[in-house]
Amino acid sequence: MKQVNVSANANIALIKYWGKRDENLMLPTKSSLSLTLTALKTTTTIALNKEQHDCIEFDGHSDEQLQSPVRSFLETTRALFGINSHFSIISKNYFPTASGLASSASGFAALALGINSLCNLQLSMQEVSILARRGSGSAARSIYGGAVIWHRGDANDGSDSFAEPVLPASWWPDLRVLIAITTTAAKKVSSRAGMQQSVATSPRYQDWLIRSNNRLPAMITALRSRNIITVGSLSQADWCDMRDVMLSTTPSLNYWNEGSLNAIMGVKMLREQHGIACYVTTDAGPHVKVICLAVDAPVIMQKLQTLLGVSSVLESTIAGDPEVEIVE
Ligand code: DP6
Repeated sequence: MKQVNVSANANIALIKYWGKRDENLMLPTKSSLSLTLTALKTTTTIALNKEQHDCIEFDGHSDEQLQSPVRSFLETTRALFGINSHFSIISKNYFPTASGLASSASGFAALALGINSLCNLQLSMQEVSILARRGSGSAARSIYGGAVIWHRGDANDGSDSFAEPVLPASWWPDLRVLIAITTTAAKKVSSRAGMQQSVATSPRYQDWLIRSNNRLPAMITALRSRNIITVGSLSQADWCDMRDVMLSTTPSLNYWNEGSLNAIMGVKMLREQHGIACYVTTDAGPHVKVICLAVDAPVIMQKLQTLLGVSSVLESTIAGDPEVEIVE
């Protein structure tokens, strides 16, 4: 029986997505830009299930809470493409899930690519990105490696809200993203719920949209010219604004813990007192990502590892495109 094996990687947004203009179609309020990361990998095996239900397994478990968004994604996909079959899905994440390490990005990117191959849908990459977006917004970007932009789009039906590659992974081999893991516990407020609250209640939201939109072209130029100081500074500025939006949301969203704060301060100290080009960003979770160059990675990792509340540090390079293998 035909089976498709997909490996896809999660991404870290340098220019963030935090808020939707359409909750059902998962359309963002603004464009975003990310780097796909080797350290955050998901592998998914997908085949048709002879029985009339979907069989979903994550990391050897059948956790209902993790399965529910996948079940609704599969229903949406069946309805969109007139598919009658059900699926058997085995997915493995090589990093802690549901704690802000964007497992949904790599997971839904892998699923969209996998279903496209398994069911011979012959979708273009734009269409695969649009499909992945229906699972999770950030997944629209993870169908590519390298640096990736996800366009906000203007159309009400979401047909122009897809991701496109900006630069290949090979563009900047010295670029690194270090990931300080501060806890493996699941987060309390999901990105989906948190961003919805932010759009509705944060007085800083509209201001962030304007500032963040202005940063996007500057970020692309800085990535093209491999300028770590500008890439890092713009990314950190966008994160600071997103963090202010989160904190000014009602009820206030605080995704950070003691380890996160120690890592943020540690990186600031290395940059300001030792002149090391290192910059912080986080997502809707407690882990801290540090943007830097390979030459500085060992000393930054050493520092992060000594900090209270930091349990381990991953070193990531920029990942290439997902891999899709068809086994007949
Ligand atoms: C903070 O893509 O997880 O990581 O679209 O509701 O599934 P849904 O949310 P998700 O949100 C990611 C938010 C972020 C920033 C980003 O990745 O751009």
